[in-house]
Order: sequence, then structure tokens, then C-alpha cells
Amino acid sequence: MQVAETIAEIRACVAQARKAGKRIGFVPTMGALHAGHASLIDAAAAKCDYVVVSVFVNPTQFGPGEDFNRYPRPFEKDVAICEKHGADAIFSPSASEMYPRENLTWVTVEKLSEPLCGRFRPGHFRGVATVCTKLFNIVGPDVAFFGQKDAQQAAVIRRMVADLNMPLEIVVCPTVREPDGLAMSSRNQYLSPGERKDAAVVYRSLSQGLEMIEAGERNVDAIRARMQATLQEVASVSIEYIGIVDAETLEELDRVRGRILVAVAVRLGPTRLIDNIPVDAPLQ
Ligand code: PAJ
Repeated sequence: MQVAETIAEIRACVAQARKAGKRIGFVPTMGALHAGHASLIDAAAAKCDYVVVSVFVNPTQFGPGEDFNRYPRPFEKDVAICEKHGADAIFSPSASEMYPRENLTWVTVEKLSEPLCGRFRPGHFRGVATVCTKLFNIVGPDVAFFGQKDAQQAAVIRRMVADLNMPLEIVVCPTVREPDGLAMSSRNQYLSPGERKDAAVVYRSLSQGLEMIEAGERNVDAIRARMQATLQEVASVSIEYIGIVDAETLEELDRVRGRILVAVAVRLGPTRLIDNIPVDAPLQ
């Protein structure tokens, strides 16, 4: 497995693979890899012949006061996970390699970037869309793999690729969870042991929403009220949002219909956690 720190190096690696007729898979990450990331690398290795994983904590998607500086960077461990799951190359550029000058060109995906996390992290999806555009231009993959865990990010990237005719396919893989249902996240390591236990309530509340829908409930207010009551049973949790939205447009619904997302964002102390469940609700 090759580790490339410069754009020229990773381009040379991919060019050689492409010359050999290989299909290029790409998994963009910020490192601190866990089983969720590993599942994306596995999916890429299953579908492609040459897999590139990027490890880059992208400064432009963090707001002032967010966790950019303390974001975990266990690089040696990340290299071992990539190797074990069949990656062929890691691209781990420095911030100055990616942003060598003041960045004046930004990619904004309107509407989809505004609700849910967009309300609480202004500028976040602009940073994500811009860095993914740069990474796609650098790596030139045939397929890029994203996690359902960050459903709004996946929707933003899918739309950007469609609107801008980017020549790659986007695959979204299911959320990998801990045994108690907590979605795996690099940020889970910020949690104290008590907070870690409390964090399971996020998935409990999402599961309740799913169960209500499966039992035929279509009134969004009723579902949200039950989920809110469950989250409020845990004193350390403060709710940012409970979203019941169309899976594609991310617009709030009055009644549950079609492919939707039930999504939650909370804070546990200083740590922000997000999770969601996609639901296909038959029309009634
Ligand atoms: P990061 O948070 O490192 O996540 C990288 C990819 O792993 C994303 O597509 C995310 O949805 C996926 N992922 C995270 N946790 C997961 C889980 N429990 N199950 C399945 N997939 C999971 O998302 C980013 O980095 C950045 O915004 C990035 C796209 C790299 C741009 O900087």
C-alpha cells in the first residue's frame, strides 16, 4: 500500500492503476478510522480494483469554536486499518498541500445544505462540498463511497455530482453501529464513560420513531413528540433537532410519506452526535 502526501504523488499512483485498466474506488475520510470507515473500504474493495482512502481533517468544514484542533489524528493506526481492509493507497495531504493560498472558489449546494445540521453548522456543507470537489479532481475515481450515517452530507454530494456532471458514481453504505445501537463515529471517543452510556438514547429514540411508522403512524408531530420525550429522559442530552424529512429534498413533512429520513442531532456535554434511520413508508 502506498502512502501519498502530495497531489502529484497520488495522481501518479492512480494514473498507473488506470493505465492497467483498473476501476478506481475512493473513500474520503478525516481519519480516526473505525468499523464504519472500514465498511466503506470493504465496499470499495469489493466493487473496484484500486482503492484510495483519503485521510484529511478538512479545516474549511469546521466552524469557529468547533473541534478542528482536537480532532483525533491517530495516523499509524489508520494506515494499519486501510492496509487490513485492502486499500491500495492512502492520500494524506497537509492543509497547505490542499489549500496553498487563500481559497476563493467554493461549491455551495443550495437548499440541501440549509436544514438539519446546516442550521447549526453554517458553512459546514460548503466546506464539505468544496473539499470533495477538490478530492474528486485530484483522485479522479470511478466510484466514491459515503456513509448513510451522514445522510445530509450524502444527499449534498449526490446532488453536487449530478448538478455539476462530475464523472463518478456515488455509493452510500449502511450505518455501522456499536452493540447498543450507537452509530460509530470518530467523535464517540470524546465521550466520558457516563456520556457513552447515555448516548445509546439517540438510537433508542430513532428506533421508536421507526416503530411508530411501521405501526402505521403518519403524523409527524406525534412521532417527534415521542422521540423528544425519550431523549429528554436523559439529563445529559440536549436536543439540537429531531428531523422527519423527505430523504431526497430534506424538506420537513407534515405527514410521513415515501422515502424519508428520521434524523437526530444532540449534544452530550461538549460533544455533538448525529444519527438517522432511512424509512420507506408505504403510502396509506
Ligand atoms: P468522516 O467523518 O471521517 O467520515 C468519512 C465517511 O465515513 C463518511 O462518508 C461517513 O458518512 C462515513 N461514516 C462515518 N461513520 C460511519 C458509520 N458509523 N457507518 C458507516 N459509515 C460511516 O464525513 C467526513 O469524514 C468528511 O466530511 C469528508 C466527507 C471526508 C470530507 O471532509
